[in-house]
Amino acid sequence: MTDKTAWGLSTLALRTGQQRTAEREHAEPIFTTSSYIFESAAHAAECFANETGEHNIYSRFTNPTVRCFEDRLAALEGGERAIATSSGMAAILSVCMAFLQQGDEIVCSRSVFGSTIGLFSRMMNRFGITTHFVELQNLAAWEAACNDKTRLLFVETPSNPLSEIADLGALSALAKSKGLRLVVDNCFCTPALQLPLQLGADIVVHSATKYLDGQGRMIGGAVVGSDKDMAEVFGVVRTAGPCMSPFNAWVFLKGLETLRLRMDAHSASALELATRLEQQPSVAKVYYAGLPSHPQHELAKKQMRGFGGVLSFEMAGGKEAAWKVIDSTQMLSITGNLGDAKSTITHPSTTTHARLTPAARAEVGIADGLLRVSVGLEDLEDIKADLARGMASCVLAT
Ligand SMILES: Cc1ncc(COP(=O)(O)O)c(C=O)c1O
Repeated sequence: MTDKTAWGLSTLALRTGQQRTAEREHAEPIFTTSSYIFESAAHAAECFANETGEHNIYSRFTNPTVRCFEDRLAALEGGERAIATSSGMAAILSVCMAFLQQGDEIVCSRSVFGSTIGLFSRMMNRFGITTHFVELQNLAAWEAACNDKTRLLFVETPSNPLSEIADLGALSALAKSKGLRLVVDNCFCTPALQLPLQLGADIVVHSATKYLDGQGRMIGGAVVGSDKDMAEVFGVVRTAGPCMSPFNAWVFLKGLETLRLRMDAHSASALELATRLEQQPSVAKVYYAGLPSHPQHELAKKQMRGFGGVLSFEMAGGKEAAWKVIDSTQMLSITGNLGDAKSTITHPSTTTHARLTPAARAEVGIADGLLRVSVGLEDLEDIKADLARGMASCVLAT
């Protein structure tokens, strides 16, 4: 008998979760059905009485293609169970709905995705839930922000766009000492590069839209954790309905099959590009945790298998120089998205972080000359050549 618990990440990504039907299909089918039939009235009653999701009743609750994606992602993250959602934001919302009630509080890194900040500060607060935003690396600030109403600590690591690293071991120790749940958004690393649950986190959330798909085709998300916690999240998704469609789950299953290969390739290209950018006179600073010059490089090495595909750099010439680089590209996609096989370039201060005031941007370190690149899977020489076009006296390309 195969010992599936000993499988490596690539094998898990290809082989976990598939329940073949009587047709003996090789690849995972898409179950496009909204409901399921029962063998008898008694069988229907038995299935309806069981709310664990063991029996297929209705595809808002469970679907075999979605379940295959859930089982595979849970195995990759080292969690007991995953619950798929319609988007990354639906995953975060479902965690809030599952574990918070009026009067509760969240402590959240201030360096998280803008919509996460919006959800916590502009929407959850309407339901009596308060969020304290703290500096990602300042453990004393995390501790000081906790009180007897705190229920969740929420963090993204590495942060976007400045690649700051959260010490997940230290945050998990803090969470455990106070009986809180540590929630980690792992969409920049994926389980191919970082396993937050192994480092002590309680819950992992994903925007599957990013690297889990990896080809910029689908919106989706997931929550991963213990059976007990995921039963709560399942209850929210089953009742409130932010579920994943079977077709999207099938596309994400294809993405997972190549996850490790892709993440290794993204990481290798990003590291080389970051190293070359650091040598450019027109570049004031490069933000990438894989660089030995990164202040938390040693911590990153300890908790990540690779450093990922997203890097940022600040043009010495400010916004004008940054826009010149963007407008001189002929291949890179000028878009706010990331985690795609195609390289993308973004000017955070006028797009993803434009809603912040100049003072707030300065406080979090987002300069007008900052550019973020999600390094794709094109030939690296072509990415370098495309970026170099707009840089004065640049020797990026070899
Ligand atoms: C780190 C992070 N978390 C969550 C999300 C939200 O995911 P989605 O767009 O799938 O809702 C994003 C989207 O960009 C993200 O970058």
